[in-house]
Amino acid sequence: MPIRSMPTAPGATPRHYLMCEPVHYTVSYEINPWMDSTRATDTDLAVRQWRTLRDVYLDLGHTVETIEPLGGYPDMVYAANGALVVDGIVYSAKFRHPERAAEGPAYQKWFADRGYVTHTAAQVNEGEGDILVVGDVILAGTGFRTDRAAHAEMQDLFGRAVISLELVDPHYYHLDTALAVLSSDPASPQIAYYPPAFSRSSQSVLARMFPDAVIATDRDAAALGLNAVSDGLNVVVAPGAVDLAPAIRERGYTPIPVDTSELLKGGGGAKCCTLEIRPTP
Ligand code: ARG
Repeated sequence: MPIRSMPTAPGATPRHYLMCEPVHYTVSYEINPWMDSTRATDTDLAVRQWRTLRDVYLDLGHTVETIEPLGGYPDMVYAANGALVVDGIVYSAKFRHPERAAEGPAYQKWFADRGYVTHTAAQVNEGEGDILVVGDVILAGTGFRTDRAAHAEMQDLFGRAVISLELVDPHYYHLDTALAVLSSDPASPQIAYYPPAFSRSSQSVLARMFPDAVIATDRDAAALGLNAVSDGLNVVVAPGAVDLAPAIRERGYTPIPVDTSELLKGGGGAKCCTLEIRPTP
């Protein structure tokens, strides 16, 4: 007889995050459509918003560690791009653009110095920006940054099924700008996503895998509302995600609005600033 797990109610589990304070934050080059190097940025405001985000995680009972920011790497605040950590194993990032190339080795060194097993990626990939873990599977974006060949490399490394998803709208150039994992509990995996960011075939894959997913609206997507961080219950989300917040509340999650407007000028939000360290099982 098939065993069917009952969907469980949302519940929080303590998380371990790595973040990078945006002391060198600015927009000095343009590698995504949100970035405008002629527009002024306010580094102090970025730091204040980042500290608020960090404090929200600490108040929720999560562990936050930080990596020393490198001068001349204004995008290093987007820690999600620095690596992918699954089962305590670190898959290093290999950036698409030379402007960010040094960040991959810097994050890898941070982990190696602390005794983590690290794997130097052969293929171009931008860490958790394009790679999301939901239940036992890994969802992996491609189209703008991460190469499809990296998906196979990850599957070999982690021994988990990797589902390739093709991104088609340059505004949603990383998977974590178009899809949020609300619950990564294998018994009740749950996501929210914005279908127009994906190719037709990837939309079909998502609809089959997650028939119960929360569908984000144009307004949610335009505020980078899907760049949200969930601990399984509490969902840190941009205040501009006006439709997403009530939709997830209805499903039993608790939206926690955190303003990251200054970091949006670089094309990122809360999730971009947060690299999850998943422990050895
Ligand atoms: N300016 C950065 C870039 O274009 C933003 C990265 C945002 N990070 C993310 N995880 N989506 O690479």
